[in-house]
Amino acid sequence: MSKIIDGRQLAAQVVDDVATEAQFFYEQHGVKPGLAVVLVGDDSASQVYVRNKIKRAQEAGLNSIEHKLPADTDQATLDSLVAQLNEDPVVHGILVQLPLPDHLNEKAIINAIVPEKDVDGFHPVNVGRLNSGQDALTPCTPLGCMIMLKRELGDDLSGKNAVVVGRSNIVGKPMAALLLKESCTVTQVHSRTKNIEQICAQADILVVAVGRPEMVKADWVKPGAVVIDVGINAIEPNGEYKLVGDVDFESVAPIASAITPVPGGVGPMTIACLMKNTLTAAKQQLT
Ligand code: GUN
Repeated sequence: MSKIIDGRQLAAQVVDDVATEAQFFYEQHGVKPGLAVVLVGDDSASQVYVRNKIKRAQEAGLNSIEHKLPADTDQATLDSLVAQLNEDPVVHGILVQLPLPDHLNEKAIINAIVPEKDVDGFHPVNVGRLNSGQDALTPCTPLGCMIMLKRELGDDLSGKNAVVVGRSNIVGKPMAALLLKESCTVTQVHSRTKNIEQICAQADILVVAVGRPEMVKADWVKPGAVVIDVGINAIEPNGEYKLVGDVDFESVAPIASAITPVPGGVGPMTIACLMKNTLTAAKQQLT
């Protein structure tokens, strides 16, 4: 049986480290690293995510500033809030929770956040920096996955075969960029890939982020691979609600050398890395 990677425990360590540094930052600058979280509308999943982000920020000793706007907020109002947060010296990180209601322009909002405060790492300047090997605010989920991978495999990932399943801007693309930066041999597969199972079965490192419940089965996985499951899917197989990943945990766990569970794997690490990014952004702004 493989090792199950405890994302909750690792995330608590990351938050602890941020808290120590945030206290030091406060002593130096007389201000706490500040995170503004903007939620538009009343999507229930987004509300849960935002609540968890605010709670963690408080645990990490950050100043968290929440802005809740009604679902019918217009673009101009959201633009002007972002402009105000861009200018606010106590705000070092800005996160606009996605998805936004359909009538709002998500790209325009991402582009409106100044790159220095873009703790999601979604702004094209940060995407460009990451992909050209420069220091960048890096999307939280892939950053969390990388911390977990290095915990399992050590700091040197060079030459490892890494397969990323999925090509989203939030996870798949930045994950591939991070693995390439670590000198892995990176293959990115997606819904149109032929022989996807065989390609995955070559991976020493398999990161799955597609949003399809239990898609990756045992015969997709090389014995001894490290498997990182980014998916969080709510299913009701026998009328009973449960959360599962994109990986069929039961069949894959005995084959992998290490695997993340769902829940309790990648999810907590994503939030912890948001705290880490806020601290990084604050330090960069005040030094
Ligand atoms: N919605 C789901 N994941 C994310 C994320 O990482 N950042 C933001 N802003 N919204 C999200």
